[in-house]
Amino acid sequence: MAYNLLKGKKGIIFGALDENSIAWKVALKAHEEGAQFVLTNAPIAMRMGEINKLAAQTNSQIVPADATSIEDLDNLVTKSMEILGGKIDFILHSIGMSPNVRKDKSYGDLNYEWFLKTLDISALSFNKVMQVAEKKDAMNEWGSILALTYIAAQRTLPDYSDMAKAKAALESIARSYGYRYGKLKNVRVNTISQSPTATTAGKGIAGFGGFMEFADKMSPLGNANAEECANYCVAMFSDLTKKVTMQNLMHDGGFSTTGMTEDVLAKFN
Ligand SMILES: NC(=O)c1ccc[n+]([C@@H]2O[C@H](COP(=O)([O-])OP(=O)(O)OC[C@H]3O[C@@H](n4cnc5c(N)ncnc54)[C@H](O)[C@@H]3O)[C@@H](O)[C@H]2O)c1
Repeated sequence: MAYNLLKGKKGIIFGALDENSIAWKVALKAHEEGAQFVLTNAPIAMRMGEINKLAAQTNSQIVPADATSIEDLDNLVTKSMEILGGKIDFILHSIGMSPNVRKDKSYGDLNYEWFLKTLDISALSFNKVMQVAEKKDAMNEWGSILALTYIAAQRTLPDYSDMAKAKAALESIARSYGYRYGKLKNVRVNTISQSPTATTAGKGIAGFGGFMEFADKMSPLGNANAEECANYCVAMFSDLTKKVTMQNLMHDGGFSTTGMTEDVLAKFN
């Protein structure tokens, strides 16, 4: 059921790779709620062509951009304002990639060139997006900017490797830029810390299936899925959450504050 929560709002959505992507679900939901937006992803990710289906379904245009390139971001923001006919109300940063994780490098044997790539793609790109938007005065007053993060930023979990460092930086960037953008333009900036979700990025982590089940059993409400995450994103882009900023918002069914559950304990008794 739609509530027209984003009626008249214009946005940019990063990171829809295929129909499992969290950004894909956010795009469908935002469209359902009346938003207009531009879809973007790294040029290399577009070779699969899946994103064209989403663009057709949501009546939106695609502007490719490598989120680590200021030049690409500059072009993206300029074109988005042209396409949408005005300034932007919301941005979703749904981007994550670690060459070390992808290539199964252990945490004790990291490749530091790749580590820098992980940080650039998964964290610094968020700062770059906001800096470009600020310089081009692209955001409307009371706009909302979100990035997706994971609990491994704050608690150690096996196999999340250098992505944990990237997520810690991402959450810190949301606080720093949230302060700046709040003072400048009443724009809010937050991260949503999502449950493990079966997507291309998620499944790249070793032992993901078992971990997803563990997280589900450790969460009183069970894992939050991608559609539920999309609902939360829409709420955060809507005018119902105007004074929420500089927060890391847990969307994990209660996982992050649960010490033990009967389900998990039963495995040991
Ligand atoms: N899947 C999970 O378990 C989970 C849990 C918590 C948070 N997250 C976060 O959610 C976000 C979205 O991931 P997802 O799970 O939907 O997976 P996904 O693989 O569908 O999305 C990741 C996206 O990042 C894009 N990307 C990679 N490099 C890029 C670059 N240089 N420029 C622009 N885009 C680039 C990819 O093309 C892809 O679309 C990520 O930040 C991820 O860390 C995922």
